[in-house]
Amino acid sequence: MEKGFWAQLEKPIIGLAPMDGVTDAPFRFMATKYGKPHVIMTEFTSVEGLCYGNEKGLKAFLYDQVERPVVAQIFGSNPESFYKVAFIVSELGFDGIDINMGCPAKNVASKGSGAALIQTPEIAKEIIRQTRKGTQDWANGKTMEDAGLPENIIQTVQSMQPKRPEKRELPVSVKTRIGFNSNVAVEWAKHLLETEPVNISIHGRTLKQMYTGSADWDAIAAAAEVIKKTDTTVLGNGDVESVQDGLERVKKYGVDGFMIGRAAFGNPWVFNREHAELTLEDRLTAAKEHSHKYEEVLREDYFYPMRKHLAWYCKGFYGASEIRKKLMKAENAKEVEQILNEISAMDFPADSS
Ligand SMILES: Cc1cc2nc3c(=O)[nH]c(=O)nc-3n(C[C@H](O)[C@H](O)[C@H](O)COP(=O)(O)O)c2cc1C
Repeated sequence: MEKGFWAQLEKPIIGLAPMDGVTDAPFRFMATKYGKPHVIMTEFTSVEGLCYGNEKGLKAFLYDQVERPVVAQIFGSNPESFYKVAFIVSELGFDGIDINMGCPAKNVASKGSGAALIQTPEIAKEIIRQTRKGTQDWANGKTMEDAGLPENIIQTVQSMQPKRPEKRELPVSVKTRIGFNSNVAVEWAKHLLETEPVNISIHGRTLKQMYTGSADWDAIAAAAEVIKKTDTTVLGNGDVESVQDGLERVKKYGVDGFMIGRAAFGNPWVFNREHAELTLEDRLTAAKEHSHKYEEVLREDYFYPMRKHLAWYCKGFYGASEIRKKLMKAENAKEVEQILNEISAMDFPADSS
């Protein structure tokens, strides 16, 4: 098993859970600067889309060197597409490849991808094997052309930086759920272990549950018991509110670490163990900085995906809802700056409402 950076991580491992539409490069930059999780994953991107030449899918693969170790997450249902896209991830210098086997969204699962793979373990295992073969072949000198990737994708990948100078195989991990309709975490983990992924991250819900109810950490613990008999590490995920909360769960449920997702909304500090009391000024400064980073990294994009982050930062102080209304119309970082400077100039007590 190629362990790569996973072998060097201090335990318990604290990770930023991948979240489509949220954990883009600007957000991950903020999480790194203010929290520095041990491992970071990109938003997922479709391997089939990339193999059809959809260049937009490469946007998920933008990253900053400060994020390392940074893992690219991919989803799909065709093992051959995973083989090909492993060349792209390797070429772009990521530290690892993570395969999504947990997404419950209809447009993903209805095509046999994401959490639907829990129902087709043979395909899931072939996907892991082909992804590994892709990064191995790349490390042994095969090229993106040899892999049969579309010309436009090859050109765009070549124009993207950064790259890693040395050619080496990347570790392959999996992120999944405890089942499709019901909890089958142990049986499912045994299937995955046959292919020796370096790490399995388990969100303690079934596909059917989507994001409802609470995560079943007993199910995670049962799978962890099996996984811990092997060289694979296991991260628990679901409803972790803070590092302290995560550390308690590590002790109680026997995992090697945990991932935090939604608790990081507007809260890049959540990964920081020495989480000091935040002032309103801290949050407003971060909101401005995040906006500028968003413009710098994703400048060809619309600004509206940034607005939800602004709403998350600007909560819990007197007048916050009025400010959020204004922010929901902001078109660029300069406008955000102007709106937020208005409050900085006033003397609101932090966390007053
Ligand atoms: C908006 C959103 C987008 C998500 N996108 C992804 C994704 O791209 N890949 C993935 O593996 N999980 C994705 N997830 C699931 C999270 O990684 C995580 O498993 C889930 O939110 C539970 O963790 P939490 O309770 O800490 O948020 C997403 C979750 C949310 C809320």
